[in-house]
Amino acid sequence: MTGEVNMKAHSSFLLRAFLLSLSLIPALGLAQELSPINLPAPQTDGGKPLMQVLKDRHSTREFSSEKLSPQMLSELLWAAFGINRPDTGKRTAPSAMNWQEIEIYVALAEGLYVYDAKGNKLNPILAQDVRGAAGVQAFVKDAPLNLIYVADLSRTGNASAEDRNFYTAADVGFIAENVYLFCASEGLNVVVRGGVDRVTLTKLMKLRPDQKILLAQTVGHPKR
Ligand SMILES: Cc1cc2nc3c(=O)[nH]c(=O)nc-3n(C[C@H](O)[C@H](O)[C@H](O)COP(=O)(O)O)c2cc1C
Repeated sequence: MTGEVNMKAHSSFLLRAFLLSLSLIPALGLAQELSPINLPAPQTDGGKPLMQVLKDRHSTREFSSEKLSPQMLSELLWAAFGINRPDTGKRTAPSAMNWQEIEIYVALAEGLYVYDAKGNKLNPILAQDVRGAAGVQAFVKDAPLNLIYVADLSRTGNASAEDRNFYTAADVGFIAENVYLFCASEGLNVVVRGGVDRVTLTKLMKLRPDQKILLAQTVGHPKR
């Protein structure tokens, strides 16, 4: 009798554990299906002269669907906000109080990742093509790369709301300009965009309340 009761309790425990594991699948998203992408080491000694790059910097809204190579992606992200002083962990763009609060989400056809500057890799977020939701203009969904700049407000200390808004907006501007300059140097097309449906994208990206989408930036090869 006791054995039978134990068996029942055991099966009911297994059933509950199974149902719980099923209920966790949506919460975990599909990121499990994506693996981290280890980027090749960026080549940091090339590029056009600065004055030439400044002459060439401009926005373009036409992109080939050709993917960027892992090498190009590595260099672009390093230029954007990589670590240029490994002894201190400081970056290619300045940030107020050295908050380093801007996270670069990387929307590729195969899924959404976040740039890990220290590990020089892309960490998976969602195995879903979110490019279509990364902007409100037609070219956004077909371009091979959309960067989505998110401020992690948990890194902004005790700053007032006004200072937070001001400094995070300034900080993202430096990063976006670095991307513009890299693209001018490499002959890539690029446009920074404030036109983003932040409410929809925030939900899709499963961001926390203290993560705020600031801008997006579309990058790709010119159309041939
Ligand atoms: C904060 C900011 C938001 C922008 N938002 C958009 C946008 O949503 N869509 C777009 O096509 N261009 C956008 N742009 C690009 C500007 O339209 C562009 O920089 C401007 O027309 C000047 O052109 P140039 O970059 O070639 O000098 C934005 C630029 C900035 C700085």
